[in-house]
Amino acid sequence: MTGVWIDSTHADDVRRARLYGGDLYISSASRAGRALIEHARAMIEEAFAPHDPETAQYHMAVGDYAALLGRLKPAFIHHPRCKELLRAVIEEHGADPEKTYFDVPKLRSSTSDGYLTTGIALAFPPHRDTWYSAPQAQINFWTPVYDITADNGMSFWPGYIDKPVANNSGTYNYYQWNKTRANTAAMIGDANTRIAPGATEPLPKEDLRFVTGCGGFTIFAAAQLHASLANTSGKTRFSIDFRVVNVDDLVAGLGAPNVDVKCTGTALRDFMRATDQARLPEDLIRRYDSGEVGDGVLVYEPAG
Ligand SMILES: [Fe+2]
Repeated sequence: MTGVWIDSTHADDVRRARLYGGDLYISSASRAGRALIEHARAMIEEAFAPHDPETAQYHMAVGDYAALLGRLKPAFIHHPRCKELLRAVIEEHGADPEKTYFDVPKLRSSTSDGYLTTGIALAFPPHRDTWYSAPQAQINFWTPVYDITADNGMSFWPGYIDKPVANNSGTYNYYQWNKTRANTAAMIGDANTRIAPGATEPLPKEDLRFVTGCGGFTIFAAAQLHASLANTSGKTRFSIDFRVVNVDDLVAGLGAPNVDVKCTGTALRDFMRATDQARLPEDLIRRYDSGEVGDGVLVYEPAG
């Protein structure tokens, strides 16, 4: 049985334990959540002007559209204001910023009706983030930037939290991905140029979808099986997500059960403490690392 907790008052350690067990948490728009959305909208609307960002796909050549996203997304992801807002969101959700480490927030887009579904705007197949080298203790926060419908948000299959799913995560090494990701912006033509682990067995048609408000968050374990829906709403969906880990859980070895992860490497070096952006201790990271670096890159540093 999966619990879906709406505006829960659980303490953060109780919430983390339930998330690792497969529960989901939904929160209504908070002050900092709204501020994050306003910041994102201002950047998106400036980039797409004079078009409405939700319908710009009908007025732009696909190459120009991909190039625009290739500029907009890194500008948002690395904007210093985002780090302040993430800390505020974490605190509003009752997590201790001294113990909580986050990764930079990702701005995602999902165009309607297959206009742009690869490279910079890849529609991710059903997956766990732990198939992409996320630690078992990672927790994800997700919010839409503009109102969503049941057709353009996300799908969840919570029953699989402790049930293995056939997948091709064995093809994924985080450090090899870091090596190639700088070129992602240019990838618009070939879906195979971006390695995206996914389920290789059919999943039940019945999925779980939450139609949530902008600036409110869907909070779920990185091990939760989920997908972005193939968007048929007629509008481009923009969303923000970020990941957190609690350092005490990493030290104690807590997290969601690992039932089918085959990827190598770890994304833990990307995480920063919410208070001062300090990195996690390397000896702690090494406990979670397969050690297979090869000619890969440990930490991706974006150019410019
Ligand atoms: Fe994901």
